[in-house]
Amino acid sequence: MDLTHRPRRLRQDGVRGLVSETSLEPTDLIAPVFVDATTDERRPIESMPGHERVPLEAAVDRVEEVLETGVEAVMLFGVPESKDSEGTRAWADDGVVQEATRRITAETDAYVVTDVCLCEYTDHGHCGTLEGRLRDGSDDGTEGSLQDGSSDGTGDGHVPGEGHSLPEDPSITVDNDATLESLRKIAVSHADAGADMVAPSGMMDGMVGAIREALDAADHEHVPIMSYAAKYESAFYGPFRDAADGAPAFGDRRHYQMDPANAREAVREVALDVEQGADVLMVKPALPYLDIVADVRREFDHPVAAYNVSGEYAMLHAAAEKGWLDLEAVALESLLSIKRAGADLILTYFTEDVASRLTEDD
Ligand code: PBG
Repeated sequence: MDLTHRPRRLRQDGVRGLVSETSLEPTDLIAPVFVDATTDERRPIESMPGHERVPLEAAVDRVEEVLETGVEAVMLFGVPESKDSEGTRAWADDGVVQEATRRITAETDAYVVTDVCLCEYTDHGHCGTLEGRLRDGSDDGTEGSLQDGSSDGTGDGHVPGEGHSLPEDPSITVDNDATLESLRKIAVSHADAGADMVAPSGMMDGMVGAIREALDAADHEHVPIMSYAAKYESAFYGPFRDAADGAPAFGDRRHYQMDPANAREAVREVALDVEQGADVLMVKPALPYLDIVADVRREFDHPVAAYNVSGEYAMLHAAAEKGWLDLEAVALESLLSIKRAGADLILTYFTEDVASRLTEDD
């Protein structure tokens, strides 16, 4: 055969590495860590094999385990000792994330990113203060279902998207501007505790600008904001909501998180966060939204992050458990694909597994 082009020439060992377009390093990865103020023992999260909710006393140990794999950054999520309608424990000086941040920054070299949101702290499980009748939980028939939001972290409680219909009363929704006030307080309390970066995930309009202003006013002008800029209303968050105990007790998040049908809207959403001073732009989830990762990469010069979420992790584990997929191979391929699409950094529950393998290979 007289073939001019034979792409196979460059696929041979020895040259493959030279022409490889994408690489993955432990320093590209951020490990999510769950700190739980309601327990004094490390508790496995059933739907996220290998992950645990750890008590405050074990937060430093947990982060040291991450650092041993060559990873330098963690993302902290907190489960508070109590919840209320406003989520006040989210900005308490002695709150679970604030306390964990203080310990971790005092005792380790980890770069600490904190999730700035209210859903783990409100008794209704929504990402902010509600407007409408639900506040007193009395006359709207949702009182019973408020219990559904609290699972025991074993994964067998709440089934996302099932049994929760949006309340009939359309006036019950998250009050955007009231929530911004809470978000300011949360971000400042995290930075006061020593957080290196804050990551607002609530999808409130104006959240990045409000947080930037509050941080600057509190002398935290050097703390960057990684905005969950294009965060979709996704069923892939199911296992996380067990892990962080943050499932909405009624309804869903479609009035504030993005519609999975929309791609052009993501570019507009992200542009607003850029205008408001976001330092890192996140797309979430990752694998079902690689087109959005690629769009954000193309449209903006900022670092792009992607969150390979709990459901993306759980489904690979479930298939591997059945012997249908090679877990190590699909985990690596997933992360490589997310980087190829344009992400500079990845939040993933595979962080430690993949990083320790990358470190061993060196
Ligand atoms: C909100 C938050 C969520 C996740 C990260 N931050 C949950 C949600 O929006 O319901 C999901 C992460 C995952 O699924 O891995 N605090």
